[in-house]
Amino acid sequence: MRLDPPTFQLPIQAAEGAAEIDGLYYFVYWFSVIFFVAIVGAMFYFVWAYRRRKGVKAEPTKDLTKLELFWTITPLIFITYLFHVSFAVYIKNSTVAEGAMEIRVRGKKWAWEFEYPTGSREPGVLYLPVGKPTKLILSSEDVLHSFYVPAFRAKRDAVPGVYSHIALTPTVKGEYQVFCAEYCGTSHSGMLAKVYVVSEEEYAKHLDDIDKPPPGQTPAEWGKTLFEKSGCPTCHSRDGSRLVGPSLKGVAGTMQPIAGGPPAMADENYLRESILRPQAKIVEGYTQQQMPPFVFKEPQLDAMIAYLKTLK
Ligand code: CUA
Repeated sequence: MRLDPPTFQLPIQAAEGAAEIDGLYYFVYWFSVIFFVAIVGAMFYFVWAYRRRKGVKAEPTKDLTKLELFWTITPLIFITYLFHVSFAVYIKNSTVAEGAMEIRVRGKKWAWEFEYPTGSREPGVLYLPVGKPTKLILSSEDVLHSFYVPAFRAKRDAVPGVYSHIALTPTVKGEYQVFCAEYCGTSHSGMLAKVYVVSEEEYAKHLDDIDKPPPGQTPAEWGKTLFEKSGCPTCHSRDGSRLVGPSLKGVAGTMQPIAGGPPAMADENYLRESILRPQAKIVEGYTQQQMPPFVFKEPQLDAMIAYLKTLK
């Protein structure tokens, strides 16, 4: 992961516009530092210079209209200037380039899922070709989340029922961290993902490989990867301990108590249904939380089910 700070406080600048945003940040930062020192310094000086002394009587001060106008109008000019430069950079960076590639980013408790223009979906991992203007279309399937990639200087809320977007052109190849920057419940801090900025060829190859198990892996091994990348472990333990959702240890092939219905056999169809339509059968005692539905292609689903069957 590349987080080596090339500048004094911020991580690597890995997208177009990042340098400009940093420039703005440092301008506001030093502007604030200088005024803080000047104002607090003057305050301490006056406290000392006009301290109580024997034989000196305090005299009431008079209004100084010119001084009052000066310290009202000067900050107003500064603030108007700050607004102007910030707004200009904001508008420039949220404008999507003509012909940008559109990728859907869906937030759900507690994982990120990405959908490419080909229709392929992948949880937890986003590949982007370097230098290509991209529009990330954000949405949420449950509550408010926020998609945040510090290296791209990109952060935007994913709001249920509304699309929002990030305009982005990654400029430096590498691996970058995605965070959720809006508190969204128990496992908010575990709502992570990775962005890989790669060459056009690597990107095309990755899209080809998305729906296939990686070479040399069994379906169950691939299923384990998908299980972890999808954020399943944030709610379902694999060792029998109780988290937000039922533990998946020893579930496959056994009878499950269902809320408001007869017990159900957790066969392959049951596991499949529980991934695609989690609300269809809810295990007794777990009616308080809503698991979001997950969409996988057939080979991915088969792999997930194969993995769940190994959790003895
Ligand atoms: Cu999603 Cu915090």
